[in-house]
This record gives sequence, structure tokens and C-alpha cells, in this order.
Amino acid sequence: MEDRSVHIKSFGCQMNKLDAGLVASALRDAGFRLTDGVKDADAVVINTCSVRQHAEDRVLSNLGHLKHLKQHRPGLVVAVIGCMAQRLGGTLLEHEAVDIVCGPAQIPQLADLITEAIGRHEKHLAVTEKIRFPGADDAALDDFESTYSIRDKQIPGQAFVRVMRGCNYFCTYCVVPYVRGPEACRSPRAIIEQTRRLADAGVRQVTFLGQTVNSYKYDDGRKTHSLADLLDMATEVQGIEWIKFVTSYPRDEYYKDILLAMVDSPKVCRYLHMPAQSGSDRVLRAMNRHYTAGHYLEMLERARAIVPDIAVAGDFIVGFPGETEEDFQATVDLVRKARYRNCFVFKYSPRPGTAADKRLTDTIPDDVKQKRNVELLAVQKQISDELSRDFLGRDVTVLVEGLSKKSHVNPVEGEDRPQLMGRTSTDHIVVFNGPASLAGRFAQVHILRASPLTLFGELSV
Ligand code: SAH
Ligand code: SF4
Ligand code: F3S
Repeated sequence: MEDRSVHIKSFGCQMNKLDAGLVASALRDAGFRLTDGVKDADAVVINTCSVRQHAEDRVLSNLGHLKHLKQHRPGLVVAVIGCMAQRLGGTLLEHEAVDIVCGPAQIPQLADLITEAIGRHEKHLAVTEKIRFPGADDAALDDFESTYSIRDKQIPGQAFVRVMRGCNYFCTYCVVPYVRGPEACRSPRAIIEQTRRLADAGVRQVTFLGQTVNSYKYDDGRKTHSLADLLDMATEVQGIEWIKFVTSYPRDEYYKDILLAMVDSPKVCRYLHMPAQSGSDRVLRAMNRHYTAGHYLEMLERARAIVPDIAVAGDFIVGFPGETEEDFQATVDLVRKARYRNCFVFKYSPRPGTAADKRLTDTIPDDVKQKRNVELLAVQKQISDELSRDFLGRDVTVLVEGLSKKSHVNPVEGEDRPQLMGRTSTDHIVVFNGPASLAGRFAQVHILRASPLTLFGELSV
């Protein structure tokens, strides 16, 4: 086969990272060489995110560069995949740089589409009108996923396993249900089989992915399987040591059994990513979240009663339409009480087609959103700092990911081993010096220094 190359650039959440890995494996299988840059590629795949305008702006600016590049290299094929491809569909094809637009449910066709486009220069739209319909498409996606599940992982020793697609919640601000379609759960058989194959290939930690992963439910005719059942089954897979799962929707009836699974097995990581989004009941109602701040805190309290050392992470949106200073202070209050290990804070970004965008005006000026964003992060930083200090002097088990971002800076005198980075089962980031060969393996690290988001230590013998 003639030499063909492709460059993949990916934006967005873990779902998208997983898709990028699958697409990379599929393209390699179809005879493509993967390149690190656009420079020597025959095709470029841009995997996009629509969750906030900023994410789309980054893609549009990328496409602007590619348009210039194509003036000198008209043969370069540009494919846009992911959530923005789904949201904008055919209108993206009108962009001068774009040759292929392919929604998340059509990625199994991508290798063929690119091969065709390289041969014949024609714009092409893979079906994006139907996001996913139950049955046919999901079966094709399931096959694709099983075949190309990321064995050549971006992170050594770890892999994502999608347990469900889509979302049924329709929070009023969120574009995800529109671009990823309705909830559909994969069968436990497919999930566990994939986990087994990943373990055989050296994977030690799997992360089960779903937009509301705790609502996982699969009826195989004999029994309805829950996420807790899946976790139990995964703990039986030889070679898998740690199992994480994200993201959890705050609802009692779903998560209790999951906490019990954590108690039952040290393999189920004591980490919960359970976004609250706001601490104001009025705003939560307007967001169509099905809980109050009080109820949310109660759930956390009960979780900690079952798993005392559980680490919790959260997401918040500041500047939702009509959010008053009082509403915002309720959010600050919730963050103080929840004692998250860390929080992601986002400024509200109106998404076309969502209920909030149709019914409400984006009333909060950007400088106010920005101020609230900074304030909330400062409150969280103090809590993260306090929680991190608890680790001082302790030994922790870390799954090593590889060189740290600052591996070129070596702060320890007389130390010639590189600086490595890994995570604990509670998702704490740990930095220490050690042999690079530890990547993908477990290590014991003695913690000597702590900052809000990073623990620093030395390898224990
Ligand atoms: N399924 C996950 C979240 C998916 S989106 C969940 O429900 O928890 C990731 C995060 O982006 C959300 O938790 C929310 O905090 C943020 N987000 C989603 N839509 C947004 C918007 N329109 N503006 C700002 N932030 C948004
Ligand atoms: Fe979006 Fe809400 Fe679904 Fe999460 S639960 S993906 S925030 S609609
Ligand atoms: Fe993920 Fe962004 Fe799509 S957050 S599901 S890539 S809109």
C-alpha cells in the first residue's frame, strides 16, 4: 500500500479522547502512518467539542490555519469529527478548509471516507442527521470500540472503557444530549471482554466512562445489571488492579451500591466525580438538575459515612442566566461544605438549541463571570491545600503515567533520574524522581511536600 499519513488533533472530554484513540487505531489499520504535526500529513482529523463556545472557537481558529495551508497544499484532506461536527453538520462543509464532516456515531466510516477523499477530491458529509438510533448504529459502534479499543494507549498501563453513550438528562445549559444522542448502555459482556483484553495487553487501570455513569443499566433478559455489578465483575479480571468511573450524577438510588462496591474491593478506587453545578436551589431548578444543595450535601455526607476516605471532585458553572450574587454565595457556601479534592469551574456559555439558550438571556456580563470563577477557585484552592497536607509523611501507591510536565527541571540535588508523574487511586497527582521504566507500573512514594493540586515525594524502597 502506498505511504499515507494522517495527523489527529483532539479537543474535549474523555469521551473524545477515547474516540481519538479508536480513530487512530482504525486509521493505522487502514494503512495510515500517524504524524505529530500537519506538516507531512496527507490528511488531518480534528476531533471537536461543543460544550462551550471557547472550545468551538479553538477549532475554528485551527480551521483558519488549515485554510491558509491548503492554499499551498490543495491536496490536504481535512476531516472534522466529534461533537461540533454533529452540531453543525453540513454547514461546516461550507468552510473552505473542510472536506469531511463526520458525527460521533459515524466514526467507523472515517478511514474509508479519508481514503476516498485522498483519491477523488470531493467534499463529503457522513450522515450526521441521525445522531444514533437504537439498534443498528450502536451495534456498529460497539464492534468498532471492541476492535480498536486503545491498546496503544496514550497513558501507559491505563485505558478508558465506554460503558454507555449519550445522555438523557437534558440539563438546560448542556449540548451533550443533542450531539451524543440518547443514553445507550453497552452489554456487560462486551465491557468485561474488552477489559479482559486490555488487561492481557498490560493495562492495570480501567476507567469506565459515561456522561452519567451511575445510571448504567443493562437488562440481559435474566437480570438488570447496574454499575455496581459491572464494578464487581471488573474486580475479577486478572491483571486489573484499579477501576475508576466518571462522571456520576448526584442521585441516591444510583450510587449507594457503588459505594458498597468500593468497600468490598480495594480495586474500586475511592474517587467520585459528582458535579453539583451550583449551590443555589433556584439556579439548580433552572438548570433542570434534580436535587437541592441540601440534598447534595446529604448525599456526600452519607457517602463519607460509608467510605470515609473517599475523594470527591466537582464541576460548577458560574454566571448561569439570572445568577445573583446571593445565588453565587450559595455556591461558595456549598464548596466550603463539600470539601472537594478539586473542582472544575466553568463560565456559563450559551449553547444554541439548548433550553437555557432558548428561554433565558445570557444576562451575566463576562467580567462578573470571571470574578466569580476566580473567587470560587480561590476558595477551592484553600480546601485542596488543606486536604493535600494530610498526605505529608505518608506512603502512597501511585500508578505511574510517565515523565512529569516539568521533567526537564530537576529540583533535587544530586538526582539524575527523571521526574515522573503518576496518580493515586483517589486521583491525586504525585510527582517524584525515578526510572522512566516505571511508566505503566505501580510505585510506592513517600510524600514530602504538598501543593493544592500536586503531591511531591520520593520513591520508597
Ligand atoms: N456528564 C457530565 C458533564 C459533561 S460536560 C455531568 O453531567 O456531570 C462537563 C462539564 O461542563 C459539566 O459538568 C458542566 O459543569 C460544564 N458545562 C456543560 N455545559 C456548559 C455550558 N453551556 N457552559 C459552561 N459550562 C458547561
Ligand atoms: Fe450534560 Fe447534564 Fe447530561 Fe451531564 S447530565 S451530559 S451536564 S445534560
Ligand atoms: Fe465531550 Fe465536548 Fe462532546 S465535553 S461529549 S467532546 S461536547
